[in-house]
Amino acid sequence: MRDSAEEVRAKVGELLEKVFKDNGLAKDRAVCIMLSSTADIKSLYPAKAAREAGFSECALFSSLEPPIEGSLPLCVRVMVLAGLDAKPVHVYLHGAKVLRKDLSEVINIALDGPAGSGKSTVSKLVANKLDILSLDTGAMYRAAALKCIRAGVDYSEKSQVEAVIENIDLRVEYRDGKQLTLLDGEDVSNDIRTAQVSMLASYVSAYPFVRSKMVELQREIAKRVSCILDGRDIGTNVLPDCPFKFFLTATPEIRAGRRFDEDRAKGSKQSYEEVLKQIVERDRQDSNRAVAPLKRADDAVVIDTSHMTAEEVAATICKAIQQKI
Ligand code: DC
Repeated sequence: MRDSAEEVRAKVGELLEKVFKDNGLAKDRAVCIMLSSTADIKSLYPAKAAREAGFSECALFSSLEPPIEGSLPLCVRVMVLAGLDAKPVHVYLHGAKVLRKDLSEVINIALDGPAGSGKSTVSKLVANKLDILSLDTGAMYRAAALKCIRAGVDYSEKSQVEAVIENIDLRVEYRDGKQLTLLDGEDVSNDIRTAQVSMLASYVSAYPFVRSKMVELQREIAKRVSCILDGRDIGTNVLPDCPFKFFLTATPEIRAGRRFDEDRAKGSKQSYEEVLKQIVERDRQDSNRAVAPLKRADDAVVIDTSHMTAEEVAATICKAIQQKI
């Protein structure tokens, strides 16, 4: 809603009507109604709105909520004291149920973008802020590539790759909120981070049978748990109906710089020029494949992360989600 007297009046009226209806209560059973609102509501006391909604007899009280980071904007809460014979029924309007993670339905967030755009760092930060899981879908394609390397297949031979992927035992588990990628029961979370696996993952991910296998697994996880999925085709293909879609971009030079720093910290000896070349090549492969190429969904929010910190990007995403709720 917006902060106008009409909107506050209408929304408070709607909220009270639903509270009384869902609790099977007549208006005259109300003894006292307490309302609180966030500080961005300045146009009308919610208690005044309740008075105007026909609660003229009972005691009414309005209070201001403290500004807590991550709280929903323009939010009104109400508590009714009334003669109730049963347990009270809680009422949430306009998606405010997200405030109650224990009650809310599964929420999914799609986060796409090219290599080095900051997806995986941002995904983990957002997951942390929203208390949901972060699913790195690239790790699954990487595990598929590692399987091919270990099996010694000729990657350009479709039938050989297909035979290996058909029987892949790939699972994703979480320990202390951290994603583990298990290939044939072995934790390969570190082994999939090499430059060789990066290039091959980009290559084998172009095979439709590899994609359908991975997408099936991703959809199954997304259906079960609230999570932010980062990848290349989440908003366009894996979860096309997802209400929260984001697409991160950054110049190839900046993305290569980030990857170079990360890899160096892990002991890599690759030069910046080599990393840049690989990033450009992966962009080309990922964007030009026939099936589910790297592409922004029409309804995705684009964020250029070139001059932003990961924290800033995560905050932008959380704010956009809250504004949409
Ligand atoms: O995000 P990443 O660098 O870990 O991904 C490795 C490769 O996997 C990437 O180059 C393309 C592929 N991939 C994909 O095709 N679709 C996804 N949803 C995620 C990754």
